[in-house]
Amino acid sequence: MKLLNIVGARPNLMKIAPLMDEYARRPGIEAVLVHTGQHYDENMSDLFFRQLGIPEPQINLEVGSASHAVQTAEIMKSFEPVLLEQRPDAVVVVGDVNSTIGCGIVAVKLGVPLVHVEAGLRSFDREMPEEINRLLTDAISEVLLCSEPSGVENLRREGVDEAKIHFVGNVMIDTLMRHRAAAESSRVLEQLELGGRGYAVLTLHRPSNVDDPDILSGLLDALERIQKDLALVFPAHPRTVAQIERHGFGPRLEAMTELRVVEPVGYLDFLKLLSDARLVLTDSGGIQEETTVLGVPCLTLRENTERPVTVEVGTNQIVGTDPRRILEAYGKVREGAAGRGEAPPLWDGQAAGRIADVLERVYG
Ligand code: UD1
Ligand code: UDP
Repeated sequence: MKLLNIVGARPNLMKIAPLMDEYARRPGIEAVLVHTGQHYDENMSDLFFRQLGIPEPQINLEVGSASHAVQTAEIMKSFEPVLLEQRPDAVVVVGDVNSTIGCGIVAVKLGVPLVHVEAGLRSFDREMPEEINRLLTDAISEVLLCSEPSGVENLRREGVDEAKIHFVGNVMIDTLMRHRAAAESSRVLEQLELGGRGYAVLTLHRPSNVDDPDILSGLLDALERIQKDLALVFPAHPRTVAQIERHGFGPRLEAMTELRVVEPVGYLDFLKLLSDARLVLTDSGGIQEETTVLGVPCLTLRENTERPVTVEVGTNQIVGTDPRRILEAYGKVREGAAGRGEAPPLWDGQAAGRIADVLERVYG
């Protein structure tokens, strides 16, 4: 069985790592890895290959950054000849980025079955580019691998054939569990002079937050207040750095003496930062899941989540982008109101094995 696996953006790398490991243990599986090059900075891509032990991709399409239409079209144009040459039994895509849907469309139009890891997640917010990618990818996939119960329910409600749906758990948590011990040796707290101090971690990169100057300004209002109470460390995504510059918010950030803006950090350092944080403020998808398993309170700076299990059983709260609401939720967490939550079903470090079992059954 030959599987062609796609990665493009940072969060794809934590998802593919345990799968590549699992394939390597199974003699019946030949796995080829294709990187679209959607993310290309050292600290958004290569660093994760090294830290997570992901094999070098056999092919890099080097598409880089562009508008949605241009980026997706470039992915499709450059992936088609690769797929024609490789002739796999299936194409495996993860997550909800432009590389996921771009390669997915190419696969099904060439008659190659598509497998979607992290299927069925829905924010029900179609202004979110990822929601469009999720809906379209699931609509054309033959094997739909769900990370949480809501994914299964959403697909059933959309009328997807039961035989295509598999509840396998969360591969991102496989990666977290495998690297937790190594992350403990990270020196990041000393490097950022956070050792022995309470701090919170902040990440922001959703276009709805950082591309809109009014929303971003409101978030900065809340952060101004929070950093006076608790030091904030902010590994800033390149999109966010560009938007802060464009909107002229640099001086406001510089004036926040207890908010430390740093470059995006590698997985091990980031996992250490999350593990020791008093709380996390984020609009990331994956970080809502990681904080749930780590038992660290997470305030999600969005109006919705496609990962409701992190709220139902985990440590996540959806607090939106209104500064008053953020500060209110922050105050409650500081008073110790947040529980430690528990791990959702099948977030047990074994998801990649269950996925490979399904793939061997269907395509072996
Ligand atoms: C993408 C995904 C998003 C995911 C995020 C993870 C889509 C539609 N969006 O958003 O779902 O949560 O990745 O991080 O696929 N840039 C660099 N260097 C890089 C990569 C990007 O400087 O290595 C800058 C460029 O200015 C680029 C911008 O970041 O224009 C946005 O990159 P892009 O991949 O288009 O979207 P993300 O915001 O990263
Ligand atoms: N992450 C990281 N370094 C950082 C920020 C995030 O290693 O500076 C990791 C994080 O632990 C998670 C993944 O990147 O595994 C989440 O990616 P991102 O927030 O970019 O995307 P999303 O999950 O929102 O699609």
